[in-house]
Amino acid sequence: MFEKLNPRQNEFLIDVIDEKTSRINILQGSVRSGKTYVSLIAWLILIALYPKNSNFLMVGKTITSLKRNCLTLLASLCPAFVFSTSKKEASLFGRKIYLEGVNDSRAEQKIRGMTLQAAYCDELTLFTEDFFSMLLSRLSMPNSKLLGTTNPDSPGHWLIKKYISRKNDLNLKIWDFFLDDNEMIPKEIIASMKKEYTGVFYDRFILGKWVQAEGLIYSRFANDKSRYIIEKFPIHELQSIHIGVDYGASKSKTAFVTIGFTRSYETLVVLDEFVPLGINSPEKLYENFLNFYRKIQKEYGYISTCYADWGGLGQVITKGLQTYCLQAKVPVKIHDCSKFRIIERINILSRLIGTDRFRILSRCSETIESLSSAVWEDEKDDVRLDNGTVNIDVLDAMEYAFASFIPKISNSFNKIPAKELCAFSGGAGEEKFLEGVII
Ligand SMILES: Nc1ncnc2c1ncn2[C@@H]1O[C@H](COP(=O)(O)OP(=O)(O)OP(=O)(O)O)[C@@H](O)[C@H]1O
Ligand SMILES: [Mg+2]
Repeated sequence: MFEKLNPRQNEFLIDVIDEKTSRINILQGSVRSGKTYVSLIAWLILIALYPKNSNFLMVGKTITSLKRNCLTLLASLCPAFVFSTSKKEASLFGRKIYLEGVNDSRAEQKIRGMTLQAAYCDELTLFTEDFFSMLLSRLSMPNSKLLGTTNPDSPGHWLIKKYISRKNDLNLKIWDFFLDDNEMIPKEIIASMKKEYTGVFYDRFILGKWVQAEGLIYSRFANDKSRYIIEKFPIHELQSIHIGVDYGASKSKTAFVTIGFTRSYETLVVLDEFVPLGINSPEKLYENFLNFYRKIQKEYGYISTCYADWGGLGQVITKGLQTYCLQAKVPVKIHDCSKFRIIERINILSRLIGTDRFRILSRCSETIESLSSAVWEDEKDDVRLDNGTVNIDVLDAMEYAFASFIPKISNSFNKIPAKELCAFSGGAGEEKFLEGVII
């Protein structure tokens, strides 16, 4: 029916046109499987069918991610769609659409007072349950509908437990999408994307399954360590060097880990580590850090930035650390680390390992040991086991060192040359595709 759509996309759109949708409509499945693309076409159709004075809403995790994932694409698919993220409004066929980000502290309050005819949700698993249930309560017009896309998460996630698994009771319909069905992505790129994901990430993001994370976290590293462990890394190939700092409290240890990136975040190299023992005062910590910092400086010539934990009294310790280093005439740049969700840090490192873009110096024995033995906690959703058997602190410190670069590393995966994709797409515009291939 629609020539450019694959069979699954076609099937879904036919359901939309034949009014075989439900109150809650969710497109779920693998990454890059064409859910967003076809859901936006469906959104155009739905909006056109509702009266002009109805209220519509599009929501993403943030306004920026909504723009990146949906608004730009929607505008390229339909020039009648115009939007302003600063005004948080869009218009289409003479109808007004409000735009919101779940993470915006005022969003919930704003939506609380609305009566909505239809809502579009990008990446539903990143919403809070409260926001979602409140959104449903706002969809109170006759024939109100919610349309959303999502990748699978853990089976304990509220979206599957409270909604998808109860679809028969809830007037909720699901459509499944798979990466292999997306004919717009060249086969060799699909093949390389499949190599990127391992373990639970493969099951969720490639196979599209809601599965529990279990067993070894970095199984590919654990089963083939010699591939990643090296004696030395050429200093001139490093574009930047960063130190991650995790402060130990009663049970946890203090850990410092140095990492380096090669050009364009191609390879992440763990260069050094230090887990000082017997830290019984802030001064002792400062002294150990400064020694480690000087050692790295001596060996590599420079350090770009340091990223420290900021939970509890972390920020106070960091202030003290900065002052201590300054007094020793060693000015250091220490920022609060970006934390992200632990699963996002693990996912990005797994993808680097999976694509052979990770190396670790053999001297980093604690980090090597922790990477090889880290496991998911049984019966818990996406929790890394932290019962003292594995040195999690050294992993935290390593992750703090690279976490601020997660968006950049993510962008470096599967960059498909714009020309190649436009040829496949029938020329739908470069920007869309350059953005579109980023997961
Ligand atoms: N029928 C189509 N015609 C042209 N391009 C398409 C089509 N279907 C999908 N694409 C393109 O393929 C890429 C992946 O599609 P899309 O973003 O819809 O996937 P997704 O399932 O939403 O992925 P994710 O789970 O990562 O958000 C995008 O660049 C999209 O524009
Ligand atoms: Mg999408």
